[in-house]
Amino acid sequence: MDLLLALLAVLLALLPSSSVAWVVGCANKPAPSTLERVAAPALAIVSTFLHSNCSRLAANFDSDILQIATWPTFANITAAGSVTVHLTGYALGVPMCATDPLNRLYWYNRVAGLTGHTIEMETAYTRDVTMRWDPDFQPTSMVPEDYLSFLVHGAGLTFSVSGSQPRALQTFTGRYGHFDTFESFELHQPIDRPTPFEAALELTGCDSDYKTPPRPSLHYIVPPKGLTIVSDVDDILRQAYVWDFTKALQYLFLIPFRPWSNMNTTFHQWADRVPSAHFHYVTDAPETSYRKYVVGLDHFYPRGSHAFRPIDFSSLSKAMSPRYWNVRRLIETFPERRFVLIGDTATSSTLSAYGRLAKEFPTQVQCIIMRNVDATEPANWILPNLKSLPADKLLLFNRTSELRGFTRVLPDIAAGKMTGCGGMETGLPSGKVYGWEAGIVSAYKGFRVYVACQLLSEQRPSWVYCRLDRRSLKV
Ligand SMILES: *[C@@H]1O[C@H](CO)[C@@H](O)[C@H](O)[C@H]1NC(C)=O
Ligand SMILES: *[C@@H]1O[C@H](CO)[C@@H](O)[C@H](O)[C@H]1NC(C)=O
Ligand SMILES: *[C@@H]1O[C@H](CO)[C@@H](O)[C@H](O)[C@H]1NC(C)=O
Ligand SMILES: *[C@@H]1O[C@H](CO)[C@@H](O)[C@H](O)[C@H]1NC(C)=O
Repeated sequence: MDLLLALLAVLLALLPSSSVAWVVGCANKPAPSTLERVAAPALAIVSTFLHSNCSRLAANFDSDILQIATWPTFANITAAGSVTVHLTGYALGVPMCATDPLNRLYWYNRVAGLTGHTIEMETAYTRDVTMRWDPDFQPTSMVPEDYLSFLVHGAGLTFSVSGSQPRALQTFTGRYGHFDTFESFELHQPIDRPTPFEAALELTGCDSDYKTPPRPSLHYIVPPKGLTIVSDVDDILRQAYVWDFTKALQYLFLIPFRPWSNMNTTFHQWADRVPSAHFHYVTDAPETSYRKYVVGLDHFYPRGSHAFRPIDFSSLSKAMSPRYWNVRRLIETFPERRFVLIGDTATSSTLSAYGRLAKEFPTQVQCIIMRNVDATEPANWILPNLKSLPADKLLLFNRTSELRGFTRVLPDIAAGKMTGCGGMETGLPSGKVYGWEAGIVSAYKGFRVYVACQLLSEQRPSWVYCRLDRRSLKV
């Protein structure tokens, strides 16, 4: 993996889990896994870094504000009306100091400092940022739930269906606040709808000792048959610039969600043409970033279910490739549905996950659509490993206008009248197609970019070519 991407991944992986697990006394705590024990010292350092501006942390912590964060997930349903819902999220407590917007700005600047410099934010812009902390607003930047909270270990959870008696989940939050389970309930009536529909449940955490307001959690009940469109988010649905460390941080923490190109229009056309389609959005961003993704996607794209990188270090393979496990679980939950997978060539985890899934579920994974980032982003230095993708199911595109043909045939694909991408497959590009060597070449290119642009920065001689010139970086 490329150096910058690796740095970003490490940082993103560490940030959320950095929070000290605040122990709630109402549940049995699971023993830590080996990975959790190994990761603990590094996480403690990051936690100190993040919370260093909170004086007397413990005293500032108010147990009344124990909260549960959830996002829309999917549920399957049988002909008899038995629903199995994916319940996931994390439990958190917000320290008083984190509710101060200036503190959060201070924290952001410390992270920006990790990129080797401080991003110059003009006074007006800074004011804008601080003015927009309101969580009801489209989140421009962090709110306490995102990164400054304490993740709560060992919280018990209950859920209830439309005002019925709350039921305890057979699971507790893990060391970093995460919970993830499937629960079944009966609708007591057969439901025969071909289209996914929404259902709201209520989740409550640990209510015997702490006052957790019941939290509505939204789910899409998806019929057993039909078409599911699974999409990555960064650099395909949202401008993210993952190959540029500084820009990626700005686009995650400071700049509101912006659709990439007019992908939002394309997705709405798909939803209009195939109303029964289920949309599922998957990102490797940690779940603590969920608010920005969910609010932005809900605003610009057809509504659907979501999956994030869980803050869960209980298994190495799941911590390393969350996208693969997330989509795999979705495919296994709907064995009769067919899937179109969408992503971009700058995200190596998408390429490897989609390639692997296409091999393991050849009948269900019908078509893979990939944005060729190189064609429109000269600054991108990531060389994709395209050999992992099945050429006979691949539609590679540069610009959204190239998806018009696919939009036209989508109803036939959804109706099962057409296989693959409905004759719109482009296959692999002509010329050299890289396999595993792509990682090595990218690492070298990334290292050069990093040295030239980030480390030498203003001091570099004018002849050093730098694609990511931060001297020209203005928000
Ligand atoms: C914490 O952040 C505030 C801004 O809210 C700043 O004025 C203060 O100096 C910071 N405190 C420490 C100890 O760094
Ligand atoms: C797509 O997003 C743009 C803003 O980037 C907006 O102007 C446009 O109306 C959106 N289109 C749809 C169909 O939502
Ligand atoms: C519903 O999803 C659960 C969890 O993935 C799975 O175990 C179960 O087999 C699914 N039920 C049906 C009818 O597909
Ligand atoms: C897409 O971009 C590549 C260069 O990256 C080019 O070779 C190819 O012809 C372009 N395809 C279309 C359809 O424009």
